[in-house]
Amino acid sequence: MIRLYNVSKTYAKASQKAVDGLTLEIKDGEIFGFLGPNGAGKSTTIKMITGILTPDSGTIEINGVNLAENPIAAKSLVGFVPDNHEVYETLKGVEYLNFIGAMYGVPSAALKEKIDEYASLFEMKNALSDMIGSYSHGMKQKLSVIAALVHEPKVWILDEPLTGLDPQSAFQLKRLMRAQADKGNTVFFSSHVIDVVEKVCDRIGIINHGKLVAVDTLDNIRADGKVSLESLFLTITADGE
Ligand SMILES: Nc1ncnc2c1ncn2[C@@H]1O[C@H](COP(=O)(O)OP(=O)(O)O)[C@@H](O)[C@H]1O
Ligand SMILES: [Mg+2]
Repeated sequence: MIRLYNVSKTYAKASQKAVDGLTLEIKDGEIFGFLGPNGAGKSTTIKMITGILTPDSGTIEINGVNLAENPIAAKSLVGFVPDNHEVYETLKGVEYLNFIGAMYGVPSAALKEKIDEYASLFEMKNALSDMIGSYSHGMKQKLSVIAALVHEPKVWILDEPLTGLDPQSAFQLKRLMRAQADKGNTVFFSSHVIDVVEKVCDRIGIINHGKLVAVDTLDNIRADGKVSLESLFLTITADGE
């Protein structure tokens, strides 16, 4: 579960808030899609939930643990796939995963099992013995997906995860998201692409200029006079620019 209460953030020298009074609750067992145009505040929100940025005001809880008060406990519940895949180029894939697993205190037998499972799913088994520096963009992305899951996080957060993935891997990633949610975990991912959100999510939130402008289940949005998500998105994010 993720709970944000009245969270705001303004970057130094910025004239406007990047995130403005965001209140939102994402439940266990739910895949939540965080949709918004470029610059809306998605990554800033995600960086605050993962503890990379500190909010100016407001509170964030991960499974009931207050992030500001208990940062280590809160962060240990989270797996994070960032939108850039800056991983250590001079390590082998498997070394990187072992390093991450050790940081989270995963016992080595369990770690090996998880690495095997996810590496075969993403067809990365052979590549793990190669240097990360030799990987394609998609392979780095897959490595960072695997790295986020080795400690079996209760909350999985992904920033634009489907951008740049090949169709096979995108399919596997979507299945993994559903599998995590079915286990009772929380999945939160951002996208500026409507189709992706529409196909995968249980509930969506639309953010624009740092403010949450709509939150609902996809079923409700569809039932509501047959408004498509696309037209809703275009209407509420239209600001004459
Ligand atoms: N490091 C930063 N310094 C200053 N402004 C930033 C920084 N990162 C993002 N912003 C600004 O904050 C706003 C929200 O950005 P961001 O959260 O990255 O949006 P999104 O992920 O939805 O594209 C934008 O106006 C962006 O230009
Ligand atoms: Mg972003």
